[in-house]
Amino acid sequence: MEVVPLDSAEAVGALAADTFEALVRSKPDAVLGLATGSSPLPTYEELVRRHAAGTGPSYDRVRCFTLDEYVGLPLGHPQTYRETIFAEVTDGLGIDRGRVASPDVDPAGLPGAGARYEAALVDAGGVDVQVLGIGSDGHLAFNEPGSSLVSLTRLKTLTDRTRQDNARFFDSIDEVPRHVLTQGLGTIGRARHLLLVVSGEGKAQAVADAVEGPVSASCPASVLQLHPHVTVLLDPAAASRL
Ligand code: GLP
Repeated sequence: MEVVPLDSAEAVGALAADTFEALVRSKPDAVLGLATGSSPLPTYEELVRRHAAGTGPSYDRVRCFTLDEYVGLPLGHPQTYRETIFAEVTDGLGIDRGRVASPDVDPAGLPGAGARYEAALVDAGGVDVQVLGIGSDGHLAFNEPGSSLVSLTRLKTLTDRTRQDNARFFDSIDEVPRHVLTQGLGTIGRARHLLLVVSGEGKAQAVADAVEGPVSASCPASVLQLHPHVTVLLDPAAASRL
């Protein structure tokens, strides 16, 4: 695991954007793993800015997979993670929406949805680079504390803390879904390169637990210690407890 303390959240975004662009230049049909949340936003903003300026690579041939999705929101709801990824990054890079895959949360399709998503990831050849944020309790995607370190894509129930953390995107906490489909920690671990981007004091303890604590399901992100190619990019506040 390579841990890189940087000067600012913008510097985290710029370096993460460099990583994505280098990959797509060397492999135009790369498979990109995209995460929601505020953590990857500086990365996405930088990628879109460079693309608009004409300095980025062509993304015409990439394929994208999202990490997770709420269950229970109507298709096209602005807070679905699929719509969020379109709005924050893929539309801005000119990536056709048909090249962006996300877990199928249609109620009729829920049985078997996890296995189908796993199969789609395998069919695509696996994820080349997966950007990740971290929850304040150390969760990755929606693998809450206690999640199996070898879990695959499946239905999960959110903790109250995660629902509270995410309530800011909704009018009230009652609107935050209770269930999600999420890639498992085992799924995430199959990506060839994991890029954890973190900023802010609120994540400092989770980062310290993930990087320096024991590998344990009580801090799901500690599983990153077992992966052969992980880069952790931190702003000063996120690095403050290392
Ligand atoms: C959600 C997402 C995670 C994300 C986490 C932290 O729970 N499912 O993928 O890492 O939020 O979000 P933020 O970066 O906004 O703090």
